[in-house]
Amino acid sequence: MPEKILIVDDDVDSLKLIGLMLQRQGYEIAAANTGMQAFNKAIAERPNLIILDVMMPDMDGYEICRRLRGNPATQGIPIIMFTAKTLIDDKVAGFEAGADDYLTKPTHPAELASRVKAIMARSVSQRRTSGGAPAGGLVTFMGVKGGVGTTTLAVNTAAAFQQKEPTILADVRPGQGSMGLYLNLPRANGMANLLTRPAQEINARAVENELTAHPSGIRVLPCTIRPREMGLMVNPDTATALFKIVKTLAQHVVVDIGVGLTPLNARLIKESDQTVLVVEPTRPSLTMAREILRELETMGVPRNRLNVSIVSRAPSQVQVPWQEAEQILAHDMLALIGPAPELAFQAAEAGFPIVLFQPAAVASTQLNKLAEELLVRVRSAAG
Ligand SMILES: Nc1ncnc2c1ncn2[C@@H]1O[C@H](COP(=O)(O)OP(=O)(O)OP(=O)(O)O)[C@@H](O)[C@H]1O
Ligand SMILES: [Mg+2]
Repeated sequence: MPEKILIVDDDVDSLKLIGLMLQRQGYEIAAANTGMQAFNKAIAERPNLIILDVMMPDMDGYEICRRLRGNPATQGIPIIMFTAKTLIDDKVAGFEAGADDYLTKPTHPAELASRVKAIMARSVSQRRTSGGAPAGGLVTFMGVKGGVGTTTLAVNTAAAFQQKEPTILADVRPGQGSMGLYLNLPRANGMANLLTRPAQEINARAVENELTAHPSGIRVLPCTIRPREMGLMVNPDTATALFKIVKTLAQHVVVDIGVGLTPLNARLIKESDQTVLVVEPTRPSLTMAREILRELETMGVPRNRLNVSIVSRAPSQVQVPWQEAEQILAHDMLALIGPAPELAFQAAEAGFPIVLFQPAAVASTQLNKLAEELLVRVRSAAG
């Protein structure tokens, strides 16, 4: 049975043209020229893909998109927004409304055909791999300062997620990308390439081109460690557009944002389903974490999306106990990862996450538990 595409456009000529192009590719076509009609046909015809014009008289494309996403009967149908608008804000609004991809008019028939094919293939493989699994989300790791174990937690959380569902691991700090080194992907540079582009150039194909596969199955968007890249300016709009797309390519996305509540980091945390602050078991570190938590709450980030995890890197008798740590934080604690210096070293040498390198180790159990608890929180915050 051919796959069915619903095309929504108030311009009848445009409808015919696109319809014809896609018919030649072997797709079955349904058409609608008002928002209301689009909505009704999406429910009645159950298309495999919807191509949606943005500017229409009765209801704009964003509104239609939101309604489709809000209805259980239509929420899983891939949507490509198709419009003459080229402004970044429109593109971001499209993704925010739930679109999977974005095409600007006029489009070359070959481009339209290849986008359609890519989205169809992706939605089939997503159905196959996730089997209707509950939605995942964006989980962000931030250190209260450098060297506390942020990258280690991000890498291992991604590895734990990947054992269940497809996961993408990203690093957003050009010039400081130690993540690639921990995973023995020293030359991968995908994220720096993407983050320095204007937001309107970010699309699913561009992102897929930059993903590097790790032998564990995690797909990685690392930054390099080239020092001269440290000065690269990352446009927060680009980051927003980027993560909207990354989220459509995997069930889970784990991001290492490094240190500091920069405007970019604040934006990413606001857009995350869960955030983990990584701290040492010391009073100064916990006090810094408390201030960051307060600041984030002032910025409107709900408390149930904020978490703290201690990484106790050095074997030592003198550390702030759990209960006292929670008192200092004025927040409950998600996890405590105990010292495992040899294991952390060996896993990094091998280019593998700790939880895969030595699954039976105590630290692996603790890291897996952290990941599991995070998944529960992602799902309950989403529900
Ligand atoms: N549980 C642990 N026990 C002992 N050492 C650890 C543990 N977890 C991580 N490490 C080690 O601590 C060091 C710092 O870890 P990591 O690079 O993950 O921290 P970071 O906060 O991301 O640092 P940076 O600020 O440089 O990005 C690394 O050498 C890592 O192998
Ligand atoms: Mg790091």
